[in-house]
Amino acid sequence: MHHKTKILMRNKALLFSLFAAGVLFSCQNNNSAKNNMEEEKETTAQWVNDPHTYADPNEAVVTHLNWDAVVDFENKKISATANWDIQTSPKAEKIIFDTYGLDIKDVKVDGKPADHSFGDFDQEMGKPMMIVISPGAKQVSITYETTEQARALQWLAPEQTAGKKMPFLFTQSQAILARTWIPTQDSPGIRFTYKAKVQVPDSMIALMSAENPKGKNTSGQYSFNMPQPVPSYLMALAVGDVAFEPVSDRTGVYAEPSVLDKAVYEFTDLEKMVQAAEGLYGPYAWGQYDIIVLPPSFPFGGMENPRLTFATPTILAGDRSLVALVAHELAHSWSGNLVTNATWNDFWLNEGFTVYFEQRIMEEVYGRDYSEMLASLTRNALIRDAAEIGKENPEDTKLKLNLEGRNPDEGVTSIPYDKGYFFLRLIEETVGREKFDTFLKKYFETYKFKVMTTEGFIDYMAENLLTEEQQKEIKLNEWIYSPGIPDNLPVVKSERFVAVDQAMESFIENGSLPAKEITDRWTTHEWLHFINSLPRTVDIQKLAALDQAYNLTNTGNSEIAAAWFQPAIRNGYAPANSRIENFLVNVGRRKFLTPTYKALLDNDQREMAMGIYEKARPNYHAVSRETMDELLGYSEE
Ligand code: BES
Ligand code: ZN
Repeated sequence: MHHKTKILMRNKALLFSLFAAGVLFSCQNNNSAKNNMEEEKETTAQWVNDPHTYADPNEAVVTHLNWDAVVDFENKKISATANWDIQTSPKAEKIIFDTYGLDIKDVKVDGKPADHSFGDFDQEMGKPMMIVISPGAKQVSITYETTEQARALQWLAPEQTAGKKMPFLFTQSQAILARTWIPTQDSPGIRFTYKAKVQVPDSMIALMSAENPKGKNTSGQYSFNMPQPVPSYLMALAVGDVAFEPVSDRTGVYAEPSVLDKAVYEFTDLEKMVQAAEGLYGPYAWGQYDIIVLPPSFPFGGMENPRLTFATPTILAGDRSLVALVAHELAHSWSGNLVTNATWNDFWLNEGFTVYFEQRIMEEVYGRDYSEMLASLTRNALIRDAAEIGKENPEDTKLKLNLEGRNPDEGVTSIPYDKGYFFLRLIEETVGREKFDTFLKKYFETYKFKVMTTEGFIDYMAENLLTEEQQKEIKLNEWIYSPGIPDNLPVVKSERFVAVDQAMESFIENGSLPAKEITDRWTTHEWLHFINSLPRTVDIQKLAALDQAYNLTNTGNSEIAAAWFQPAIRNGYAPANSRIENFLVNVGRRKFLTPTYKALLDNDQREMAMGIYEKARPNYHAVSRETMDELLGYSEE
């Protein structure tokens, strides 16, 4: 990252000379009455310094993308031209793009061949591409191909899809992988609108985080328009044999044809959720809201690509019990996509807000009883995970992270999500829900299509919500800047879990199984709480009895299965092994992989873990593969 430091220093010097000359470059204001110092303050506030981009938006910044692409399944590459509209400062000499493993073929500025050069390659950040421009430059056009290094892309063979007939391609750009398939200024603070033309094989459809086609055409040529400005990490593309079915006039579901009915059933409440969300924090800003169900190797539960959430098929439980994930991704349409974390160090502003908002949507649609079960599961997971992360990397248990020089993926833990959630819940409980809701609504309205820093949010709260006493009472600084979980972590009272706790007590005492009349009324969440509450060691006979009575090993519910693998592995319950193997080979969702492989390693099953991983690894997306390689100490040779 030495290179980066140099660039930044140069930029500071440049910035200073701009102001010294009394020239102000800014997208939004040009108020000459103010003195230079004030101007500097305002302008620097516009572009927050992001350690994970090489771009310098103060010198030259992108505003719109015209992307023209051909998707080549045979050679597993995308050939494209990225035609960028740019805005330049009066003294701009270059524009810097983030690139990662791209094969650059041609660069033009305003239609004429342009000089360009590359900085050193960094394993996480890739290479900066510097293109020479003059201050008035309007357009930069980059023709390129993706390579095997495109960590955002997963090219699936037909066997890895539900239909087994056609290949599939999907992208995952968050956090800094957009640069592996588009040369871009890859920072959450740099937004642009886009249009795209994408050519795919004529039996397939292409979909993006944009206005989407509702069905295939015969040419395989698709056009896209994204009129709202978005940061690079929300750039997304999926290509495959996919069909659409509407749920309401502005929501719907995309999936492979054989999965579509099941998906539509699962997501029947989509419109209700959007309405609940709008009722809380204001109108949905993006027009249409659809979900695409991807093949099972998708490395996340969901990804909030605007207008088109990408989702794992592992949430199709058949009983709609895992739709909190939909509420979560939908909530990002406000927290994250409208008001965006300024850097990945402020990631909790995206995810903590979204878990809070997700909870509120779930409460609105399914009732407090239900949402408090979710909150209770979250609280227990937070306490477990914070202790574990705290042992190795206490710094990573702070809400405000320091990910400079690291892969921002290392910040994706329960801390930004669940510690963030409970921090906001604590504020809600301190000021009262009504006040907090009014505050949040205004917050989203005020900062829509802008970025937010942790400090900006604290200041905004101090001005609009919290007295000084309240800030002390909630221990605001400790929550944000200290490791661990403060002692005023909100308490969750789930009545429905009290009954589960009682059932667990008698199971532990005398091995009696919870009565069918009781478990018949249990939802997925009660089962998760029950399984998570099992003691560290349990008799194999007792596990077998549970398994026989409630069909846990072979449950069709992925969350229950993954939870069940824990006591099964801990206690060497062999009848679960083939299911565990099958699950790990077919599912690429990292949230399930990490704890399952970890449990195998922690319980003397390294050999089993490595044996499974050999088979499973080719099925995983780079994001999951990289995490598992590290966890298992795997190297290709
Ligand atoms: N935006 C995240 C996924 C993500 C985070 C991708 C960071 C890459 C880097 C998404 O909204 C998310 O949080 N997904 C969760 C959903 C869950 C919390 C309901 C997941 O995938 O498990
Ligand atoms: Zn999220």
